[in-house]
Amino acid sequence: MSTSLQLDHRHIVLGLSGGIACYKAAELTRELIKAGASVQVVMTEAAAAFITPVTMQALSDRPVYTSQWDAREANNMAHINLTREADALIVAPASADFIAKVANGLADDLLSLLCLARPVERVPLLLAPAMNREMWAHPATQRNVARVRADGALVLGPGSGDQACGEVGDGRMLEAHELCDEVVAALQPKLLAGRRVLVTAGPTFEAIDPVRGITNLSSGKMGFAIARAAQEAGAEVTLVAGPVHLPTPRHVRRIDVASAQQMHDAVLPLAPSQHVFIATAAVADWRPASYAQRKIKKDGSATAPALELAENPDILAAVARLPQRPFCVGFAAETDDLAKNAREKLARKNVPLMVGNIGPSTFGRNDNALLLVDARGERQLPSSDKLNLARELVREVSMRLEPLP
Ligand code: C5P
Repeated sequence: MSTSLQLDHRHIVLGLSGGIACYKAAELTRELIKAGASVQVVMTEAAAAFITPVTMQALSDRPVYTSQWDAREANNMAHINLTREADALIVAPASADFIAKVANGLADDLLSLLCLARPVERVPLLLAPAMNREMWAHPATQRNVARVRADGALVLGPGSGDQACGEVGDGRMLEAHELCDEVVAALQPKLLAGRRVLVTAGPTFEAIDPVRGITNLSSGKMGFAIARAAQEAGAEVTLVAGPVHLPTPRHVRRIDVASAQQMHDAVLPLAPSQHVFIATAAVADWRPASYAQRKIKKDGSATAPALELAENPDILAAVARLPQRPFCVGFAAETDDLAKNAREKLARKNVPLMVGNIGPSTFGRNDNALLLVDARGERQLPSSDKLNLARELVREVSMRLEPLP
C-alpha cells in the first residue's frame, strides 16, 4: 500500500451541515476517494443551500442522502444502514447549530440521526467545525464542543485566519488534505495511547565556517514517518529534527536543531520523561574541532587548510545510559553486512532494539526495507513505503513496552 492509498477498502460517511465551508467538502470528497475510500455523502437541508447534492453525487459517484424518509432504503432506515457500513463518520462542515444538536443528542434529521445511531465503539465521529469566530468563541458553542468531546467525538481544528464574513479569527474549517489526514489517523489502532515518544530525524550540520559545513544525505523521511505513525497510534510525540525541508506531521511537537551537540542538548533533558526514544537521525560522528568566525579563504598557496575533527556526543548511547531511560530504538544505516553491524550496535549502544537499513538505497527515497534486531532474533520488514514501515515498527515497539500503570 502506498501513502496515497491510506484509505483503501475504507468506507467513509461524509456529512455536510450548513456553512460556506461546504465548498471545501467537495475537495474533501476527492481527497478521500484519491486515498482509496468509498464515500457516502449525507447532507442537511441547510448544506444543500450552499452546495448542490448534484455536485456531491458526481464527485462521490453515489446518490446523496438528504432525508431520513429516503424510500430507496428497503427498510426505510437510512440512519441505521448507513452507519453500519461505515468505518468513520466525518461531518465537514460542522456548523455551530449542528454541534449543538449532537451535544444534546437531538436527531431530527438524517445526519444528526446518524451521529446518534452509529456504533460508538466501532465508528469514530469526526467533527470539523466551521463558523464565524464570534460563534466559535461563544460560551454556548464551547460548552457544546466540550460535551461532544467528552462523548468521544474528535473535534478537528478549527483553523484560524480569514473568514468568509470578512473577519479574521478562529473558526475556519481545516483544509481538505488536513481533514483527510485526520480520517486516516482516526482509523489507526491506538497502540501507543498514553505514551510519550521522542524521535530524532534527519542529518546534522556541523559548521566549519559561516558558509560551510559537514552534513550527510539523510532526508529525515523515515524519522518523520515514525513521528507521524506514533502520533496516529495515540502517542504524544516530540520530534527533534536536523535541517530538513519536510512538513511537520499533524499534532507533533517539533524542535529544529542543526548540530549534533544541539540535538543532544534538546534530547537529553526530555528523555527521562519519555516512554520511547527512537533515534533515526543520521548524526555526524565528527565535527570541526574549531569554528572559523569568518569564511576560510584561499590564500593563493597550493596547500589546503587542515580540518581537525572532534568527536560528537553519542545521543542514543547517552539516553540509554540514563537511570530512568525510555525504551530505546536505534537505527543502523549501513552499506553492507546489515545483520552483523546492527547486532554489534545493539550491544555497543546497549539498547533493546536496533533497526538496520541500507543507507545509500534509502536516503531521500519514499520507501525502505528494515531489519529489526533484538536479543531474541531478527525480523525483516520487506521493501515498502516508509509510513507503512513506520506503522509496523510502532507495532513492534508497542509489543515490547511494559504495560502502563
Ligand atoms: O554509531 P552509529 O552512528 O552508527 O549509530 C547509529 C545510531 O545511533 C542511530 O540510531 C543514530 O541516531 C544514533 N546516534 C546518535 N548520536 C550519535 C551517533 C549516532 O544518537 N552521535
